[in-house]
Amino acid sequence: MDLMMDFLNSEKHFLRRENKLTKSSIMVTSGANQAFVNLVLTLCDAGDSVVMFVPYYFNSYMSFQMTGVTDILVGSSNPGTLHPDVDWLEKVLQENNPIPKLVNVVNPGNPSGAFIPKPMLQRISDLCRNAGAWLVVDNTYEYFMYDGREHYCLEDNHIINLFSFSKAYGMMGWRVGYIAYPNEAACLHAQLLKVQDNIPICASIIGQHLALYSLEAGPEWIRERVRDLVKNRELLTDAMSPLGENAVKGGEGAIYLWAKLPDNCSDDFEVVRWLASKHGVAVIPGSASGGPGYIRVSFGGLKEEDTRLAADRLRRGLQELVDDGMVQ
Ligand SMILES: Cc1ncc(COP(=O)(O)O)c(C=O)c1O
Repeated sequence: MDLMMDFLNSEKHFLRRENKLTKSSIMVTSGANQAFVNLVLTLCDAGDSVVMFVPYYFNSYMSFQMTGVTDILVGSSNPGTLHPDVDWLEKVLQENNPIPKLVNVVNPGNPSGAFIPKPMLQRISDLCRNAGAWLVVDNTYEYFMYDGREHYCLEDNHIINLFSFSKAYGMMGWRVGYIAYPNEAACLHAQLLKVQDNIPICASIIGQHLALYSLEAGPEWIRERVRDLVKNRELLTDAMSPLGENAVKGGEGAIYLWAKLPDNCSDDFEVVRWLASKHGVAVIPGSASGGPGYIRVSFGGLKEEDTRLAADRLRRGLQELVDDGMVQ
């Protein structure tokens, strides 16, 4: 009942053309989140250790927790680039016994908006292969790339790539995504299918029809729309200038900026509540991604005029926060 599998696999060689994946099989899922849970249930046992990097995608963290994978080793990121600390990963993969089952990265990142350069992801991949760990790369924001950067995927027998229709085609509620996993990992197919057959059975047929239609419209449709987001990013980056120089990072890809709050505002949940109730603007607390004292600001999903409105509110709120604190 995977209507789209043929299209992704063969017609126009979509996966090969778009992602240069030539040795991968496809499983269509009810979104990338279900794809991730499917993988955790397939690859991990309760009590296994896994690796993520802060700031991490909160849903993936929860997927580990709710399946009993409680030994979540969280690496740090370079504060300037938000790239994962690969030297730390090298040590963890060498020294931890048993070695972590899988390493998870999101590229470009949610919530960081940072883009991991190819040599760095290649090094992460090499470390995983040598240690015998899986590498799971979430490519949900593959088309959300700016300033001439180009998304890429790596392919190897220990790498699993995840994709989503939610953001690129605005299909959040239609629940379609897919897993591209190595053809040669034969045991993976049967175990993934076991989870798939017990949870969604298949992604909803109506969602898959819409996804097929979206694929026929093609990535060019997305790229045109993504171009407009650069203006939104600029408006919001500028609105956060009250936070000071170097406070705002990310935004190389995806739809997110990652901003450091002033030192006296470490309760980011409180700041987020205050920004919403007093200034009418919604952002995400960094603590949800393991980054207390930060906020995630999205520049996606709004027209420019609405982004200007949101940016004005955010600037006013942050200026007040810096000058006077959270005055009620
Ligand atoms: C990194 C990442 N992965 C997965 C998802 C969820 O995608 P889906 O709607 O396809 O489950 C999101 C959505 O916010 C995301 O940011």
